[in-house]
This record gives sequence, C-alpha cells and structure tokens, in this order.
Amino acid sequence: MSMTNSYIFGKSEKKIGGRLLKIDQLISGYGSVQILNGANMKVEKQSIVALLGGNGTGKSTILRAASGLIRSWKGTIEFNGEQIQNLPAHEIVGKGLVQVTQGKDVFPAMSVTENLKLGGFILKSKQQLSDNLEKVYNYFPRLNERKDQLAATLSGGELQMLCIGRGLMSNPKMIMLDEPSAALAPQIVLDIFKNINRIRQDGLTVLVVEQNVRMALLLADYGYVIKDGVINVEGDSKKLMYDESVKESYLGGTKANV
Ligand SMILES: Nc1ncnc2c1ncn2[C@@H]1O[C@H](COP(=O)(O)OP(=O)(O)O)[C@@H](O)[C@H]1O
Ligand SMILES: [Mg+2]
Repeated sequence: MSMTNSYIFGKSEKKIGGRLLKIDQLISGYGSVQILNGANMKVEKQSIVALLGGNGTGKSTILRAASGLIRSWKGTIEFNGEQIQNLPAHEIVGKGLVQVTQGKDVFPAMSVTENLKLGGFILKSKQQLSDNLEKVYNYFPRLNERKDQLAATLSGGELQMLCIGRGLMSNPKMIMLDEPSAALAPQIVLDIFKNINRIRQDGLTVLVVEQNVRMALLLADYGYVIKDGVINVEGDSKKLMYDESVKESYLGGTKANV
C-alpha cells in the first residue's frame, strides 16, 4: 500500500498478491459501434485499482462487459483463473465479481433493508443473509439508522452507501464501483472512500472508475488511464499523480471534478 493512502485512509495490514482479474485485448461496443479497441488491464488480489479517463472514453463499458451486461466481441476476461466473458450476469455475480451501479439497481419504494436483501439474492440461507446485513450495517451505521426508511428518502451519500452495501450482500471477492463520488460533497466522498479502503482491508479487491482523479489516486494502489477505448497509461498511483500526461489531461484544474 502506498504512503499516500495509508496516511489518509488508515494502514493496511494484509499483503497484496496474485492476479484476480485480467482483461486482455477486449473489444466491445453497442450495436455496430465499437467502443473498446483492445483494452488490457489487471487487478491484483486485495488491491484497489483506479480506472480513469475522460467522459465517454469507455470506462463504464469495460465494467459492463466484465459484469456480463453487454457482450464482449473479442478478447478475454479472466476472473479468479476462469474465463468469464459473455457468461450470464448472475453467474458472474455467483463467481464473486459484482458491479455497483450508480443507484440504478435501487428500488425507491422499498426500504433500505429490503433493497439490501435483494443484493443477497444468490445466498443460500437466511442466516447468511442476516450475517451479511449486519456486516453492511457495520460498515455503514448510517444505513442501520435508516433501515426501515424507503430508499427514496435517502440523501445522495446514503444512496451511494446503499448501492455499495447492496453489492457486498452477495459475498463478492471483488467489487467494481462506477464513479462512487459522483455528485457528492467532498466530506461525504472522503467518508465513502474510507469505507472502500476498510472493505479492502477486510479482504476484498476493488476496481473503481472515477472522474475525481486526485481522490481516486489517493485511494488506489495502481491506476489505468483509458483513451479512445484503449488503455494507454498505467502505473502506481503515486507515479501517476506525477505523470506529465495524466497531470496535463486530468490534474491541470481545467477539467471538472479534480
Ligand atoms: N447503451 C448505449 N448505447 C449506445 N452507445 C452507448 C451506450 N452506452 C454508452 N455508449 C457510448 O459508448 C461510449 C463510451 O461510453 P461509456 O463507457 O459509458 O463512457 P465513460 O467512460 O464515460 O463511462 C460513449 O461514446 C457513449 O456515448
Ligand atoms: Mg461512465
């Protein structure tokens, strides 16, 4: 773990090691429009990896392909030693790879607890379901306070916590977060990122897509930058923070959210 994130988010005791996700020469898109032009990336077990890049460059498309929401046209996606490209989405969840979407999977007219229970749809026993609920409430005491409220009444930050909590309900090995900081106040982002770091310390692996490049590089161990559907820059987060091309594109203060 780098000095920067251990300083801000707390020290990690566990060692990073072994590959969990490997995306190789991935080509995908929508209809006949190709968006990913041979994307490559790797995520080590128990690391936090940031996937960065401008608007519309294909970040969410990579996550959608990995979680089986869209087809991979070519290339491979290997998770935990198995090829998973084009498996049905629920099978990918069953293998322990879960995507946290930005509020889209939350049912506004259902309570916080009911929404969380839906996230545990693959669990076999009631005991597991209640254990996992307890685990999520332990990460996010705020959700516990609001557990009987309808999701529609939650603030933006609480809704993001619910989305992450929902993703944790199925006992994933790895979660993929799509812009968890979007539209949130800095103090709330810090709180959520601290929780993401805690989740990793408890053994999970995290891939986080972010437009908030500075915060993402503080949180992550390693980063990738995607441009035109190809990942063309990668490195340790600390190194990327000082990388001229990254600085120029994302840290110059001219882009939003930096
Ligand atoms: N459902 C869709 N149908 C057609 N085009 C899409 C769809 N979703 C995204 N796109 C296009 O694919 C490109 C990459 O989108 P996306 O991966 O969502 O970008 P981002 O890096 O902002 O997450 C964009 O040009 C976007 O307009
Ligand atoms: Mg996106």
